[in-house]
Amino acid sequence: MILSQEQLSFFKVNGYLILPKILNSKLCTKACDLLWSSLPQETTIKRDEPSTHAGPFAEDDLEDDVTNLRQGYKWQLRSIGTDQLMIDLVFSETLQQIAEEFLGNDTLVKPKVDGKTMGQHGAAWPGGPVDPALDNEGARGIYATLPYGEKEREPDFCHTDGHPFNLSLVGLIDDVPPNGGAFKVWPGSHKRLYPTFQMQYDQPRIAYYEHLPSYKGIIQSEAYEREIKKVMEDTHVVDCCGSEGDVVLWHHRLAHMAGNNYSNKIRLAVLCDFIKKDLDENRAKPPQENMWQDWSAELNAAPETYSDEMARSQKLID
Ligand SMILES: [Fe+2]
Repeated sequence: MILSQEQLSFFKVNGYLILPKILNSKLCTKACDLLWSSLPQETTIKRDEPSTHAGPFAEDDLEDDVTNLRQGYKWQLRSIGTDQLMIDLVFSETLQQIAEEFLGNDTLVKPKVDGKTMGQHGAAWPGGPVDPALDNEGARGIYATLPYGEKEREPDFCHTDGHPFNLSLVGLIDDVPPNGGAFKVWPGSHKRLYPTFQMQYDQPRIAYYEHLPSYKGIIQSEAYEREIKKVMEDTHVVDCCGSEGDVVLWHHRLAHMAGNNYSNKIRLAVLCDFIKKDLDENRAKPPQENMWQDWSAELNAAPETYSDEMARSQKLID
């Protein structure tokens, strides 16, 4: 085992686990190179000139193709999600072993080098998000957030993801300071939200019609809407800032957001989902009495207690 029992315990209670220095440093640098090299020749934003990095993107630098999106403060390069480099980075031997310590030995769907990537079908519905589960055979991609610069401060607002997956990863490919746009999590929300879904991993959806615009995409239960509102009111959010190579692993029903970037540095991260081979047969089942039914024996056996030292290392307490 790479993970300790206490790390499994912490994850069970809080729905996330930060692991420092897990990504290969050389590959992190190469991933940053890949992002910058995806820009056209002439752009306002320039890698070597940090003063050009504050968002939003200049008019001439905008790109609305969701496989390499540059819009507002968001830069999301998805077309490289199955490049060998990305697979080596986020599906490394170590990370696959760790994911299996959570989800069970030999249970994971393997990524496919040069396979299909996220976003080739465009948005899930007009104006909606891109579906990370659709035709994606590797990582979600490299997600960057430009510094907010002069933009007014906004309150944090959490959500859960709408597509089926088991466990997800956000990895830092460059250092991210506090309030620098790192992934933010609402600890313990996975336990409160899991039972409010109709289905364990999936969600009912409603088709989009231009002449019937009131409903589109995902339908949430009233219990869910009530609970996530409460989560936002009563739970102290954790900012998973850190250094190049740090990752956070998180439960599929955990409330989270991509942080607002109030630093003067671009937030650079890689995202990927770990999916089990039995996700298809389990995705539409109702929430189970034991919410860890599809998880490893080690995780199931871990007691829901941990030390203050552990909580401190996970930024849960000061
Ligand atoms: Fe999300």
